[in-house]
Amino acid sequence: MGTAHKDSKEQASSMDQYYKFQSKIYDLTRWSFLFGRVEVIKDIPLERNASIKILEVGCGTGFNTKILAETFPAAEIKAYEVSTDMVDIASKKVAPFGQRVQVVHEPYGQDAEGQNGQYDAILFSYSLTMINPQWEDLLKQAKKDLKVGGYIAVVDFHDSKQGWFKSHMGNHHVRMDGHLRPFLRDNFEPIVNKVRSAYMGVWEYISFVGKKQ
Ligand SMILES: C[S@@+](CC[C@H](N)C(=O)[O-])C[C@H]1O[C@@H](n2cnc3c(N)ncnc32)[C@H](O)[C@@H]1O
Repeated sequence: MGTAHKDSKEQASSMDQYYKFQSKIYDLTRWSFLFGRVEVIKDIPLERNASIKILEVGCGTGFNTKILAETFPAAEIKAYEVSTDMVDIASKKVAPFGQRVQVVHEPYGQDAEGQNGQYDAILFSYSLTMINPQWEDLLKQAKKDLKVGGYIAVVDFHDSKQGWFKSHMGNHHVRMDGHLRPFLRDNFEPIVNKVRSAYMGVWEYISFVGKKQ
């Protein structure tokens, strides 16, 4: 199972392996099951033209990074990603935005000391359920890296009543045990806190925007 205990290096390396092939079909296939990605960005209650700093963790092909750059045209955006193949695709996708959008080929958390209190918003889109067991450490780091009054935005798988589906997702490195929502609710003031059903209840996903107090 993909969710077995791994240290950070092993976790990053298993992502690098997994996305060697998946990166090639990612944008063609993910629209059909990674729901809520565009909406969670729209739900971030920051002034659209403000000079702000945004961090994205696990940017993949840069699908959301591009939308963030278009939605917040004066924002400086830094996007972390561990898969070499994903970094290549994302870097090309955001190249038209120039220096203000950077894709960093590193696991989030490594150089985080220097970033404390810097960010107006941090986005995790379908990354946390694949970061096992470090997801909680990454959320704690994100809380440190946000400014007071800054926003965390999370869209991700939540849970499923179908054992076969959970097990299938486990084989794709995804943990879906309803584990993210309680931590988010306890650590950030919820602004948006939704659980949505997908494919007539085969699984649920969460959309959460919370404020750092
Ligand atoms: C399901 S994809 C989501 C990509 C994108 N955020 C989206 O919504 O389409 C999860 C991404 O997180 C990346 N990832 C996993 N662990 C990571 C880590 N520790 N640091 C940075 N990125 C990571 C994976 O390589 C993968 O590209």
